[in-house]
Amino acid sequence: MSETSTSRTASTSGATATSGATPTSGTTTGATIELENLTKRYPGHPSPAVDNVSMEIKAGEIVIFVGPSGCGKSTTLKMINRLIEPTGGRIRINGEDVTDMDPVKLRRKVGYAIQASGLFPHMTVAQNIALVPRMIGWPKARIRNRVEEMLDLVGLDPGEFHGRYPRQLSGGQQQRVGVARALAADPPVLLMDEPFGAVDPITRDHLQDELIRLQHELHKTIVFVTHDFDEAIKLGDRIAVLREHSHIAQFDTPEAILTNPADDFVSGFVGAGAALKRLNLTRVRDVEITDYPTVTVDDPLQEIFNKLRSSNTNEILLLDKRGRPYKWLRRGDLMRAKGSLARAGTLVSDTVTRDATLRDALEAVLMDSSGRVAVTGRRGEYTGVVDVETLMNSVHELLEADRLEAMAHRHDLEELRAAQTHAEQEGVGGIVEGGVGGVKKA
Ligand SMILES: Nc1ncnc2c1ncn2[C@@H]1O[C@H](COP(=O)(O)OP(=O)(O)O)[C@@H](O)[C@H]1O
Ligand SMILES: [Mg+2]
Repeated sequence: MSETSTSRTASTSGATATSGATPTSGTTTGATIELENLTKRYPGHPSPAVDNVSMEIKAGEIVIFVGPSGCGKSTTLKMINRLIEPTGGRIRINGEDVTDMDPVKLRRKVGYAIQASGLFPHMTVAQNIALVPRMIGWPKARIRNRVEEMLDLVGLDPGEFHGRYPRQLSGGQQQRVGVARALAADPPVLLMDEPFGAVDPITRDHLQDELIRLQHELHKTIVFVTHDFDEAIKLGDRIAVLREHSHIAQFDTPEAILTNPADDFVSGFVGAGAALKRLNLTRVRDVEITDYPTVTVDDPLQEIFNKLRSSNTNEILLLDKRGRPYKWLRRGDLMRAKGSLARAGTLVSDTVTRDATLRDALEAVLMDSSGRVAVTGRRGEYTGVVDVETLMNSVHELLEADRLEAMAHRHDLEELRAAQTHAEQEGVGGIVEGGVGGVKKA
């Protein structure tokens, strides 16, 4: 997760600072994308696949479209580079209206990567990557350099992979070449439609990490479609949760969506894993921090003995001269150490601040034999403790709340999916509105 948050900071700063890091020489950084009342009606369908979508995507951010199958994610995405022509509304890239622009010109601005990479099987890796640069008439030498540079960028040895055919590559390698091809003409915008949908979970995880690293370097504007909410959480600076007709149920940061789902549809989609994800989003300051009996190394031994004896806990916390947690002292520790503080007790192995996540706190508790973790202030001074019961109760409450939500909404989602499957099977009939519209009210 730490890599993710690094990338978030980086891509956010990339949004404002065009003068930011440009590791690849002359790399074009991201552009804003504005969708205004974007609509797509497929011929013969009474209800639009995409209905009046308006959103603004900032330069340099990764925005994820997530939503159930058939809700219009791909149609919305493909209208951005006009692989699908909108029937209504406008698209602006960096303020320029591209709705009527020559699509070939538009695709210089917008790279595109899809599931199973979409590589041409009869072309080598190099030819695949060179596709768009050739189309737009780059000189040969420049293309050659660019291909090498792109292979390098996506972690494939140019010498080794240059001349191979797609079938000679693993799924993960094909996907990397797909990303290299999408980036070859150095577009400010990259569109990705379930690009990692067809690879195994471990490869998928690596490719996600790679994308985060790449974005950290390139600061492109990336619009990424997935139906996997975990993937959305991992990759997104912001997530647009879409419902049928591409209506935006919520468009916000992962944190905001996990902690404040806008409605039942969103919480249903967030799913039952949300409690554990939320451990990373819930802070120590959000749970009960309790007092604990403490003594300091400067206290007279007799006082420490008395406090140990009179406290109703089986140990006390010994603080150092500056009030920082130092050792856990149990009854008997001082006896065994013959009254020497230097030898007595167990060193405090880990502490947390109020800003630490509950996950950090849980890890600290598990590392420490005392069953609790000391919470410290800005200068490391003791401010209280969080015990394992408090943590487990919080986890339990989050899980319980999620279980109830998931149960309540599974039914709705199943109905929605059934209606969509039905609508798709009906094809070009007038049934779509009836089916999907009926569920929309649910
Ligand atoms: N070429 C097409 N012709 C007619 N209907 C289509 C076409 N492509 C997609 N649709 C319909 O538009 C809706 C949205 O599809 P799509 O954008 O592919 O959804 P998603 O990517 O979210 O699964 C679905 O109901 C789908 O059946
Ligand atoms: Mg799709």
